Amino acid sequence: MAELMGDWKRTHMCGTLNKDHINKEVTLMGWAHRRRDLGGLIFIDLRDRTGIVQVVFDEKNCGEFFKKAETVRSEYVIAVKGTIVKRDPETVNPKIATGEIEVSAKQLKVLSASATPPFSIEDNTNVSEFVRLKYRYLDLRRPEMQRNIILRHKIVKTVRDFLDSKGFYEIETPMLTRSTPEGARDYLVPSRVNPGRFYALPQSPQLFKQLLMLSGYDRYFQITRCFRDEDLRADRQPEFTQIDIEMSFVDVEDVISLNEMLLADIFKKTLDVDIPLPFPRLTYREAMERYGSDKPDTRFGLEIKDVSDIVSGCDFKVFATAIEKGGSVRGINAKECAVKFSRREIDSLVDFVKNYDAKGLAWIAVEEEGLKSPITKFFTQEQMDLILERLQAETGDLLLFVADNDDVVFHALGQLRLELARRLDLIDSNKYNFLWVTEFPLLEFDDEEKRFVAVHHPFTSPMDEDIELLDTDPGRARAKAYDVVLNGVELGSGSIRIHAAELQEKMLDVLGFSHEEAWQRFGFLLEAFKYGTPPHGGFAYGLDRLVMLILGRDTIRDVIAFPKMQNASDPLTGAPSEVEAKQLRELHIRVDI
Ligand code: AMO
Ligand code: AMP
Repeated sequence: MAELMGDWKRTHMCGTLNKDHINKEVTLMGWAHRRRDLGGLIFIDLRDRTGIVQVVFDEKNCGEFFKKAETVRSEYVIAVKGTIVKRDPETVNPKIATGEIEVSAKQLKVLSASATPPFSIEDNTNVSEFVRLKYRYLDLRRPEMQRNIILRHKIVKTVRDFLDSKGFYEIETPMLTRSTPEGARDYLVPSRVNPGRFYALPQSPQLFKQLLMLSGYDRYFQITRCFRDEDLRADRQPEFTQIDIEMSFVDVEDVISLNEMLLADIFKKTLDVDIPLPFPRLTYREAMERYGSDKPDTRFGLEIKDVSDIVSGCDFKVFATAIEKGGSVRGINAKECAVKFSRREIDSLVDFVKNYDAKGLAWIAVEEEGLKSPITKFFTQEQMDLILERLQAETGDLLLFVADNDDVVFHALGQLRLELARRLDLIDSNKYNFLWVTEFPLLEFDDEEKRFVAVHHPFTSPMDEDIELLDTDPGRARAKAYDVVLNGVELGSGSIRIHAAELQEKMLDVLGFSHEEAWQRFGFLLEAFKYGTPPHGGFAYGLDRLVMLILGRDTIRDVIAFPKMQNASDPLTGAPSEVEAKQLRELHIRVDI
């Protein structure tokens, strides 16, 4: 049934044809999107990655080929020879780019038949994720997916061109390597020739890019796959792509300004959007205090206000106790929500914050008739006035408070803020709000492991003025680390690195590694630091997240050609799969499940 192309050569792509091609003889090849029979006429919409063009088989013009055209079904791959003709005015289709013309077919070849696809190749098909991924090659035929994947290519090309123009070299680093500590679990690969030994797939090229600075390459980048065995979410995949950058002889400002130029260039070239520079900046502390998040979505207000100073020592025990224990009481003014929300909706907000470990949500409704609230009775008039003033309350507003330790207060109110914005439809999806979050804490205390862990990674430099805190109060040290946030998503992060061997050793010591352990794991880096290390710093973007946000998608799965499901499996290939006993024997591995 399948015919060969023979000497037929494609002359044009479907979606590029227009009035200028009228009377041209063309040879087109592509997929039959749809076929309609109208007695002596057959219409086939022919599709390729550039779009769709209508092909007409008129029984009178194309003789024997008419019969063949009758056999064509959806998704058959066909080749057509014909002439471009103008459509009658009443049949012009303004919805498609080729809508003013059609192809009057003379000859047809069926290059490949198709079974009936499990879903139609159309945007907005209502198909489960599993089926989409099992038949990903069909899903990828949908115009929307093709747009996503093609735009991804354009973004990558823009990044390469930009960085090349700024003197960066793209250098590859190994995939089979030692564990790089970015905080997730490693994917391990057994070594057949070294029984009992394993490579780790890189969580990032972090250590290699630092070594390249040591080697004098000055400016490096790489668009590369990283692997992290962590719980998957809409914006996390077990393998994902980083745009990874490192520069020598730089400080924070140099890295920030290069990245601002890069992002502005990407948005200009791919969306023709002018991003105003420089981006706003918040320190980590400010971001937490105002938005309850280190990746705040600043497309809407609903900022958090601290009322601890007003309510400390008040009669409401929940508030007073939280403050006595070193915590705080903070609130959000949900504008006009005293009117908009029913009592049931307020109760649902109370349940909502409990998902984030808050013990409750105190509320005050500012109504025409006065304040309505289970807690006003605990406050003096003066305290009440100050609270209303601090939250800039007006009639109709609903004030919502959480009292607890700062971590819980920030997290619960940060999430509540997002939930309120969703419920109140406050998010303008046409906005691109970039922002830098700077001065991250260097370390955080891990209660389970009973030790400090690096907030970013162990190679991040403390701020110059905080270096001494490593000896006295490490938990208070801030890092030369910065994240770029877009619309509430962490797009990328980076830091200035420690480049002095002694400071790196001290950092590993604070992280609880003994001298021996530090040398055993990172000895190659510490050794390298002995041989002349330039001060250096860098950055890495999640490319998938960047493409997702540029395309306005909700999940990075839509911008990765072959992504994994939530449980890290791939329904298309069936990976991960069992392997043959022989393979395991060769690897000296016994499976114990
Ligand atoms: P970090 O761990 O913050 O930094 O990673 C950089 C960026 O990579 C993206 N990202 C992910 N995207 C999809 N799926 C994942 N599982 C995933 N994990 C991370 C995020 C993140 O901001 N070596 C440092 C960078 C540096 O210091 O230069 C690093 O890897 O967008
Ligand atoms: P209770 O005294 O537990 O009955 O709580 C009285 C009100 O305070 C209820 O509306 C609770 O939701 C709220 N509440 C309880 N604990 C907290 C807390 N930690 N922070 C804020 N509000 C709380």
